[in-house]
Amino acid sequence: MDSGANALIVVSNRGPVSFERDPSNGRLRAKRAAGGLVNTLGPGARRHGAIWLAASTGGTDKQPAPAAMLADEQVAFWPVTVKPDLYHAYYDVISNQTLWFCLHGLWDTPRRPRFDRHWWSAWSSYRKVNELFAREVDRAAPHGATVLVQDYQLALTPSIVARRRPDLRVSSFVHTPWCTPGELSSLPDEVASEVLAGLADGGPVGFHSPRWAAAFDDCVKAVLGTQATTYVAPAAVDVEGLRKVAASEECEAERVALDGAVAGRKLIVRVDRMELSKNILRGFWAYDELLETRPDLRGKVVFAALVYPSRVGLAEYQAYSQEVLSLAARINERWGTPEWTPVLLHPEDNYPRSIAALRSYDVLLVNPLRDGLNLVAKEGPSVNERDGALVLSRQAGAWLELGDSALGVNPFDVSQAAGALGRALDESPERRSADASRLRLAAGLRTPLDWFDDLLRAARGSGPGSGCAEGS
Ligand code: G6P
Repeated sequence: MDSGANALIVVSNRGPVSFERDPSNGRLRAKRAAGGLVNTLGPGARRHGAIWLAASTGGTDKQPAPAAMLADEQVAFWPVTVKPDLYHAYYDVISNQTLWFCLHGLWDTPRRPRFDRHWWSAWSSYRKVNELFAREVDRAAPHGATVLVQDYQLALTPSIVARRRPDLRVSSFVHTPWCTPGELSSLPDEVASEVLAGLADGGPVGFHSPRWAAAFDDCVKAVLGTQATTYVAPAAVDVEGLRKVAASEECEAERVALDGAVAGRKLIVRVDRMELSKNILRGFWAYDELLETRPDLRGKVVFAALVYPSRVGLAEYQAYSQEVLSLAARINERWGTPEWTPVLLHPEDNYPRSIAALRSYDVLLVNPLRDGLNLVAKEGPSVNERDGALVLSRQAGAWLELGDSALGVNPFDVSQAAGALGRALDESPERRSADASRLRLAAGLRTPLDWFDDLLRAARGSGPGSGCAEGS
């Protein structure tokens, strides 16, 4: 076989594009996939001419799209076609309802998790899909290629690939937080072991924050009795790409529309997936408490929440989304006047509008319960034009890099968040400007290509580079 020493394979569940049906002609058309993972991986994958393996069914597109349609600008997209039933069990039941909940500490313990026969059958589908991805890597990878596997959906794939193809240089990266050994012990014993070994036996395992790498190390020690090789590489913002979107006509039109709705008031913004771990409800409760405790702010502030749909097939997400919508409506009923709508809720995926909101905020609220990194916390300061402040959860991976210039909050403490929003709105122009430039600087220190290079270095065995510390 030819040497593929420079060949690069990127493997993730979600690929760089998603598909929607064009209502005018019924054909599938490609659009930029939602979520931070694609923004993080995209620049490096393109620069290195990677082959990008991803599931060809998922998100809103329930139908596997023909391979010929799956062309991103500069990456060769290699679809891994998964039958819808198998995909549902692997993606919804195991990846999202089980692993995501466990890693983010989201269990509703009186009810879930519930490891019954239905669940065990889904677990065997998860294994099958991870096997399938490993088989496709085997087909796609020339001798000696580097393989970068992404995230908890594919936790078993790295070790299968490493076992099957010792010629490949494999590493994985987990974009989520990692939980403590105590939290992990809520999974069935053999599942916890398999997930940990699936990652740890497949080369170095990367995380956005040393906190999550240390938690993974602790779990490997506690459960497997071995030592993992971890590395830390915080993801970075594609500032150039963001500025292009910010300068686009669509974004400008959205900015003008938002400006019209805000009408000279102060603007609080959040941009998130409609996601339980993002803590959207407590963000609104904090805003409600702010309006209650600070009558001077009534009529003077607007909270724009751009929360685009995510994992819409899951009952937990549907219920959460309903709660978010009705809470926003209650706040508007309670405080709104004919001239003033306190909450502008946009539950659609409109990227130019999200960037317009990030350009315009006075305060950006990023209050996740727990987050691998939270790219929005870096994207906001990179495009904001108003010296806006950042209210940031201490449980976001980005806290380590940005905390010095942000207002920190315990994500469970609604009163503290209300106070932080109030203080952020009150800050003097001098303080705002100093904090905003420090945030901009911190958010722009690294590029997505730096991050990608860290992954390559880890996989190719020369250890992570500058700005990237080894976990163990
Ligand atoms: C975010 C997380 C990633 C995760 C992705 C999946 O970007 O940071 O860890 O892989 O969401 O989202 P999806 O919508 O594809 O389930």
